[in-house]
Amino acid sequence: MDSYDVAVLDGDGIGPEVTGEALKVVEAAAKRFGFELNTTRYDLGAQHYLDTGVVIDDATVERLRSHRAILFGAMGDPRVRPGVLERGLILKLRREFAQPVNLRPVRLYPGVPTPIRDLTPQRCDLVIIRENTEGLYVGAGSTVHAGTPHAVALQESVNTVAAISQVVDYSFRLAQQRRGKLTLCHKTNILVHAGAMWQQVVDEVSRSYPAVELDYVHVDAMCQHLPMTPERFDVVVTDNLFGDIISDLGATIQGGLGVACSGNLNLDGTAPSMFEPVHGSAPDIAGRGWANPAAAVLSAALCLATLGQGQAALACEQAAAAVLAELPALAGPAMGASTTELGDRMADRVTNLEIPTTPSIMTAIAAV
Ligand code: NAI
Ligand code: MG
Repeated sequence: MDSYDVAVLDGDGIGPEVTGEALKVVEAAAKRFGFELNTTRYDLGAQHYLDTGVVIDDATVERLRSHRAILFGAMGDPRVRPGVLERGLILKLRREFAQPVNLRPVRLYPGVPTPIRDLTPQRCDLVIIRENTEGLYVGAGSTVHAGTPHAVALQESVNTVAAISQVVDYSFRLAQQRRGKLTLCHKTNILVHAGAMWQQVVDEVSRSYPAVELDYVHVDAMCQHLPMTPERFDVVVTDNLFGDIISDLGATIQGGLGVACSGNLNLDGTAPSMFEPVHGSAPDIAGRGWANPAAAVLSAALCLATLGQGQAALACEQAAAAVLAELPALAGPAMGASTTELGDRMADRVTNLEIPTTPSIMTAIAAV
C-alpha cells in the first residue's frame, strides 16, 4: 500500500479547526482509495513563539524537510506583532523548501454565492500560477535619508530566467492536461526589463508545447477580464506581486475565503510542497465553530493530487462541492452547520459518493 508522511502545521485561530476537518476528509479518501497518510503534527504558531521566543528553529525546518508534503492551517495572533509569524514561518518555508510555484484554482462551485452577477460555474474554472520566490518580494532595496523630506526608498524586483522557466514550464504542462490555454499576465509595456524576460521565457518554452494556445493580458486589464469573462482563462501564469493581487480577486469571484485553496509546489523533489487555505487565522471567529472548512479541505485535496492520488483528490473536491451547494451562507452562524458538522458531512460524501468522470484541476495536477 502507498504510504505518505505528511506534516501538519495547523497553527493559530481557526487553523486547527479547519485543518482537523480537512484531515478527516483526506483520511476518508485514503481509506476508500487504498493508501495511507502518516501525519505528524508540529506545534508551531503564536503560542510556541510566545513560550520560546522562536518562530521555528533550524532543526525543525530539517525535520519538516523529510516529509512528503505539509498541510498548513493558518498563522497569526493578535498577541504577536503582525508579520512575525507570517514572514518568519510561511515565507521562510516557501524559500527554504524551494517552492517556486504558488497554485491557486479559481473555480466557482455550484450554489456558492459570487458577487459577480450572472456568473455561472461553467464559466469560471481557471488556475492562477504565481511565481512564489522572487519579484518585488525578495526584500531587495534600500532607504536613504529616512524620516527627512529627502527620503528615498528603493524596492527592487528580482527576476531570474531560472525561476521563471520552472514556473512557466509547469504552467504549460498543467495547461496541457486541461483545456490547453496559457495566459501570461504582466505589465510588459511598462516594466520593460522584467516583462521582456517573462515574455521571452514564455515564447521559448511554448515551442515545446505547440498544442497549448498562448494569450497575454496586462495585469490592469486582468482586473476587468477576470470578473467579467473568466471563461477566457484556463491557466494564468504571472509574477509574485501580480499573482498576489489577481489571486485575491479570483478568490472573491469564486465565493471568498471560505473556499479559496492554494498549494506551494516544490518541483524538484528536494523538499515538500505545502498546502494552505488562502484565509488567515480569523481571530474574530476562532473557537465558535463558524469557520468554513472547505478551503482547507480543497487545499488538502490539492496535496493528494500532487502525491499522484488524483481520484482521491477528485473525491475530496466533489465532496466539498456537494456540501457547499447545500449551505445557505458561506460563513458565520448563518452557514447552517458548524465547522465539525461540515467536515463530517464532507468525509461521509467522500466515502459514499459516485466518483465523476469529468476531469478537474485535481486530476490535471495528478497527471502533470
Ligand atoms: P483572515 O483571512 O483571517 O480573515 C478575514 C475575514 O474572513 C474575517 O472576518 C474572518 O472571520 C473571515 N474568514 C476567514 N476564513 C474564514 C473561513 N474559513 N470561514 C469563514 N470565515 C472566514 O484575515 P485577517 O483577519 O486579515 O488576518 C487574521 C490573522 O491571520 C492575521 O494575523 C494575519 O496576519 C493572518 N493571516 C495569515 C495567513 C496565513 O497563515 N497564510 C494569511 C492571511 C492572514
Ligand atoms: Mg495575499
